Amino acid sequence: MMGETGILLRPWEMEDKLSLVKYANNKKIADNLRNLFPYPFEEKNADHFISLWTSMQPVRVFAIELDGEAIGAIGLHAKEDVHEKNMELGYWLAEPFWGKGIATRAVGMMVNYGFKTWPILRIYAGAFGSNIASQKVLEKCGFFREGILKNSIWKNERIDDEIIYAIYRD
Ligand SMILES: CC(C)(COP(=O)(O)OP(=O)(O)OC[C@H]1O[C@@H](n2cnc3c(N)ncnc32)[C@H](O)[C@@H]1OP(=O)(O)O)[C@@H](O)C(=O)NCCC(=O)NCCS
Repeated sequence: MMGETGILLRPWEMEDKLSLVKYANNKKIADNLRNLFPYPFEEKNADHFISLWTSMQPVRVFAIELDGEAIGAIGLHAKEDVHEKNMELGYWLAEPFWGKGIATRAVGMMVNYGFKTWPILRIYAGAFGSNIASQKVLEKCGFFREGILKNSIWKNERIDDEIIYAIYRD
């Protein structure tokens, strides 16, 4: 999938391993994600990440590519049981590329892809209360701020809120 300004969402490849380690190994990124996303992020984590996300069809987690290099990841995660019509959006971008509108473009592309690819009705994301940049991204993409889960996040020995954002098929 090609974006307007040069970014591409495409499947991960083993050749992305070096750029993945270079960019994902960043505490400022890990601080805003679940503990499942490790810090430090080492070669073995990159191996696991790439083999996991290349094993699924349709693709759920894409590399965000700029000028031939993987500079971030964006994905949709399936939910089960009564939540089967929802998917959860997650993303991160390499720090040198922050503040250029890239995540906003990638989220817009991923929402289109998600609604086109699966019969889901709702895409949602949970941003930590302290993560203003991500909240802005979701707002710029038309997500609705559904609510705040007060004090629900325990990350790096600190308490935070989780802000739930969603966008609906119609
Ligand atoms: C969140 C993240 C993906 C944003 O990527 P990005 O490409 O820089 O985002 P964009 O440039 O599209 O938009 C960022 C917006 O936040 C604003 N912003 C950035 N840092 C900010 C801050 N500390 N306080 C307030 N606003 C901030 C920018 O000005 C921009 O808004 P604007 O267009 O109104 O000026 C990136 O910072 C990141 O990877 N962070 C770590 C991982 C993460 O938080 N993932 C999301 C988990 S929910």
